[in-house]
Amino acid sequence: MKSVEKLTSAEAEKELDRLAREIAGHDRRYHAEDAPTISDADYDALRRRNAEIEDRFPLLVRADSPSHRVGAKASEKFAKVTHRVAMLSLDNAFSDEDVADFLGRVRRFLGLKEDEDIAIAAEPKIDGLSASLRYENGVLVQGATRGDGMEGEDITANLKTISDIPLRLKGKPPAILEVRGEVYMTHKAFDALNKRQEKDGKPVYANPRNSAAGSVRQLDPSITASRTLNFFAYTWGEISQLPAKTQSGMLENFSDYGFVVNPLVRRCETLAEILKFYRDIESRRANLGYDIDGVVYKVDRLDFQERLGFVSRSPRWATAHKFPAEQAETVLEDIEIQVGRTGKLAPVARLKPVTVGGVVVRNATLHNEDEIARKDVRIGDTVVIQRAGDVIPQIVRVIEDKRPRNAKPYKFPTECPVCGSHAVREVDEKTGKEDVDRRCTGGLICDAQTVERLRYFVGRDQFDIEGLGGTMIELFHDKGLLKEPADIFALTEKPEKVSKVLAEHRATLSEERRAAEGKDPVKKAKKKEDEREDKVVENLMAAIERRRKIGLDRLINALGIRHVGETTARLIARHYRTVDAFMAGMEAEDARTELESLEGIGGVVAEAICDFFDEPHNVKALNRLLAWLDVQAMAAPAKSSPVSGKTVVFTGTLEKMTRQEAKARAESLGAKVSGSVSAKTDIVVAGPGAGSKLKDAQKHNVQVLDEDGWLKLIAN
Ligand code: IVH
Repeated sequence: MKSVEKLTSAEAEKELDRLAREIAGHDRRYHAEDAPTISDADYDALRRRNAEIEDRFPLLVRADSPSHRVGAKASEKFAKVTHRVAMLSLDNAFSDEDVADFLGRVRRFLGLKEDEDIAIAAEPKIDGLSASLRYENGVLVQGATRGDGMEGEDITANLKTISDIPLRLKGKPPAILEVRGEVYMTHKAFDALNKRQEKDGKPVYANPRNSAAGSVRQLDPSITASRTLNFFAYTWGEISQLPAKTQSGMLENFSDYGFVVNPLVRRCETLAEILKFYRDIESRRANLGYDIDGVVYKVDRLDFQERLGFVSRSPRWATAHKFPAEQAETVLEDIEIQVGRTGKLAPVARLKPVTVGGVVVRNATLHNEDEIARKDVRIGDTVVIQRAGDVIPQIVRVIEDKRPRNAKPYKFPTECPVCGSHAVREVDEKTGKEDVDRRCTGGLICDAQTVERLRYFVGRDQFDIEGLGGTMIELFHDKGLLKEPADIFALTEKPEKVSKVLAEHRATLSEERRAAEGKDPVKKAKKKEDEREDKVVENLMAAIERRRKIGLDRLINALGIRHVGETTARLIARHYRTVDAFMAGMEAEDARTELESLEGIGGVVAEAICDFFDEPHNVKALNRLLAWLDVQAMAAPAKSSPVSGKTVVFTGTLEKMTRQEAKARAESLGAKVSGSVSAKTDIVVAGPGAGSKLKDAQKHNVQVLDEDGWLKLIAN
């Protein structure tokens, strides 16, 4: 491995990228999968290397750098707890029939008559995370997460901070008692927490369940304590003696011991009663103050439960009757178009805020243009929206009866709302179908795409400017120094500004790092860092300067035109040869026809290129760039070469050069290299092992040469 001192900034950037991914992978295997693949010492060495590189190249520190993450060390993880009685999950029922089937199965299994009623304990299904609490002689000794059902994590210290969880039980509990239930967060606590997070500039949680899970798995129990969590007890694991003969009786006992039991629990005798309970809970769902996602039915008699037992991982004596995705009605106030980093126009519905299952919904996705047309969604419409779990709310349908009289069908913009360029839908040549997405064609000037485009522009196969990586592009863009490619070259005229931005960036970074390490900010070794930075700026300016000389093929590739990569760019560059001819060609009336006539360029590609040049903004930006550049014409095919203008096919094994090399050499001499032999082929170069192509050559009377013969021919 190269010593850190010897790394170039390009190598450093690459290695930091690799280290970030590698360390994240080890963290995941260690923490989430519990299957580490390297020793602690090797892991520490990776982190050390990462820190050393970052120290030398402070400007390359990544946003996702492993050094920003805490809580990744071995000593800081939770201990494992093996559940003495597995924590199972529940089978689901989605309809009334499913529930009737469940009762039928239970009756058949127990040998009861078809019309015989079985008492069922019904209770809300809480949307939180389950936990197991172990009490020995009435004292809480351990609390654990469910984990995979067999093994969870020891979160005793955190669970002890929840006031619904008694540390010492009341009454006469069994000597050993594992009470299980759900840790959850009320809507009120959730809103307050997110407000606080927002104020502190921290990420907000998506829903109460995630925030409950996140809060309970904090390594620092004081953080858990600062969040309001609650707990409902609903079942048990290991127990030295059963204090009751029914599920409902057990819950009464839990309540006596000091647990909070859901007040809505109800004993039902018939299917009709069960379904009535379900509807009743469903209608009260929005006003409960906490999230539930269904109702759980449990056979009440414990001797029946014992006989029924389990199928795979769920009890035969219980099922969860799930609620359908939650829906609500609201008004679509506006449709906003967001432009993604690749130019895709994404429609977002702005809604009159409405509460759906305790969560206030303001936006919904509209997917794309066709979807809006298919549902005929219009601004001002009353719409039914749906939210299921974590997914982004969706618009299910429009209530046409409530449509305002003046509502007009929505016209999807054909211009980019960010830069005003045309936005187009591509047509797939083979299927003749339009792409579902509309894209902005203002690649060079569209602010939504700027950073992504500039990153591409300086990439290895494009301008390849050493020292100007993605992080720096982003930084310069944020500071207003970069908007379009020409600005990169303009940097060479303002080295002081560049220095200033870099120095400020370095200062913030080291402050942040010190703060993360809990140290006070200091000013140290400033002189040395300044010197190093002067060198960085000097090198960067020189690197940019060097690239003012650029090949036409690289330039075309760097424009980031859709579908135009290295190969296509080279084809085009070879055809036009000089930048002036290229620019004139693009402005010509028949640009599209000419492009399409090129071998290897089809309609979609030609169209994308024309779309790009049809955009005056792009042409202007390109001209501003050209003012800085000395674009190298493509080498003219050697007219005098004996193979110029000839079509050559290589087949069999070549011994003195690789196939790629042979091809490049032939092309540089003005030959066209093809993969198959036809009457149009001029020369077939056949090495040992040549098969059908050699036969074809004979069939078409094509000149055949061996490798030496070919080399002799082109040596002239
Ligand atoms: S009883 C053997 N009762 O649902 C089954 N579970 O899908 C023991 N849940 O992991 C579970 N409310 O986290 C039961 N009233 C309730 C519940 C409930 C929520 C969760 C629990 C479990 C999951 C099963």
